[in-house]
Amino acid sequence: MKKLIVGNWKMNGSVELLNEFSQGRSRTEWAHAELVICPPSIMLPHAVSLERDFAVGAQDCSHANSGAFTGDISANMLADFGVKYVLTGHSERRRYQKETNDKCVSKVNVAQNSGLTPIFCIGETLADYQSNLTMDVLSNQLESLLVHNIDFENLVIAYEPIWAIGSGLVPSLNTISQTVDFIKDWIIRSKGRVHGDGMRLLYGGSVSSENSGAILSLPNVGGLLIGGASLKHPSFRLIASSAYRHLKSA
Ligand code: 13P
Repeated sequence: MKKLIVGNWKMNGSVELLNEFSQGRSRTEWAHAELVICPPSIMLPHAVSLERDFAVGAQDCSHANSGAFTGDISANMLADFGVKYVLTGHSERRRYQKETNDKCVSKVNVAQNSGLTPIFCIGETLADYQSNLTMDVLSNQLESLLVHNIDFENLVIAYEPIWAIGSGLVPSLNTISQTVDFIKDWIIRSKGRVHGDGMRLLYGGSVSSENSGAILSLPNVGGLLIGGASLKHPSFRLIASSAYRHLKSA
């Protein structure tokens, strides 16, 4: 299966940068990974309109389909404009917008009902990590997917340790591998082997063109969720190339 390489631009980027990404298309290595760019919402229609070899994802959607939710954008609207993916549960939204796990999962639900593929982000704080609570935190975050009866066939899960985001700190390959294996086992235990085997599990947090190849070579890592390094066309291209090299050597 092709690796899924997702760039989350957060509140960065510009129309000019989108155009640059579009002009850099058609490189051989890019064709061997599935690429997604998630620019700020105001740029989504422009991103979709470009001639490009990446899919377009949103960074958020409303938990509701329509109504009096000033400033929000519904998953239906995103789908109408040609958006294919949406991030939910990113730790920055959990932190700054006070989004509860339940709310994040209800966004997964509306996204799926609108035909989008949600990328559900989970991860532990540094304090949790240092107290060996990572698996407890992740189980708790995953548990609500069962309550909301989420379709695991159309779901991507991204493991992003909060302490690794934007910090330059990356868990050891062994830790990433064990944690992603834990998530996969949890899915198999809860939903059955088909779901667990077919789902893509991403790693995110200080991914760079230097470490992407090693992380992508871990057996259960199905792709990457990238912040800072997705804002420069050359580094994003190099990361995509490491997916290509992995596919060639697999
Ligand atoms: P960085 O790659 O900048 O650490 O950000 C990770 C992230 O939050 C992607 O969603």
